[in-house]
Amino acid sequence: MTAVMNGAPIGVFDSGVGGLSVLREIRNALPKENLIYVADSGFAPYGDRPSKFIQQRAETIVEFCGSVDAKAIVVACNTATAVTIQTLRSRFTFPIIAIEPAIKPAAEITRSGVIGILATSQTLSSESFSHLVEKYGKGMQVLLQPCPGLVEQVEKAELDGPKTEALVVRYVAPLLDRGADTIVLGCTHFPFLSSMIRSVAGPSVSLIDPAVAVARELQRRLKTSELLSLNGSLGTEQFFTSGAPDKVQPVVGQLWVKNVEVCSLPSALSAF
Ligand code: DGL
Repeated sequence: MTAVMNGAPIGVFDSGVGGLSVLREIRNALPKENLIYVADSGFAPYGDRPSKFIQQRAETIVEFCGSVDAKAIVVACNTATAVTIQTLRSRFTFPIIAIEPAIKPAAEITRSGVIGILATSQTLSSESFSHLVEKYGKGMQVLLQPCPGLVEQVEKAELDGPKTEALVVRYVAPLLDRGADTIVLGCTHFPFLSSMIRSVAGPSVSLIDPAVAVARELQRRLKTSELLSLNGSLGTEQFFTSGAPDKVQPVVGQLWVKNVEVCSLPSALSAF
């Protein structure tokens, strides 16, 4: 493996800004890596879109990451993983690490045996999600809760306020009523709402976000492929969007640790 490949960036993408919750864990775990984040905001949310559409967008974004020489890809979107991961892995040769709802860790810690999953309709109705439930949810009661409208609140950086709170109560309260003591954040937008979800659910309910595990898995894959950065200095981050950068930039600025520049994807890949 050449040092050029080691210095190449890691491409991370989501339908919008949700994947920043994964990017921050990647940054913590791998401070020397150069990171490229693509927010497909021009086409967000993915949650209720047809699978074919999500698949095309994911392939387009991964091609873009390949065109800027990414050495690995992280699918920081449960919905995209659910509908496209097999196609992406069969089409592209670089390591592809993907997030999916963390049913296994939830099953390991629940005491009531009732687990609530907050995710998009597409994720919850996917075959890969059914397989996860079959594999790890045996003997458990797994409650599926689609959350229309919640991704949009995060896309506007409205992390609190009455509208966001009403939606959180609408989706979390039925899980509590049915005895859930463990809630899986099955959409990468939702960790940005974890304080509100926690205040509705109360301290005895565990919230599970698999982002740290994804960052650890990325680290492991880069190591075994001898692709870890050899940089002596800290890595950089670059942000791209298929939406309007002037609208996306303030939101990224609010959710990311510092203010950053958000660039347009090439126009053929953008909504604008
Ligand atoms: N952040 C996404 C996920 O993890 C997608 C949300 C959406 O675009 O509907 O599922």
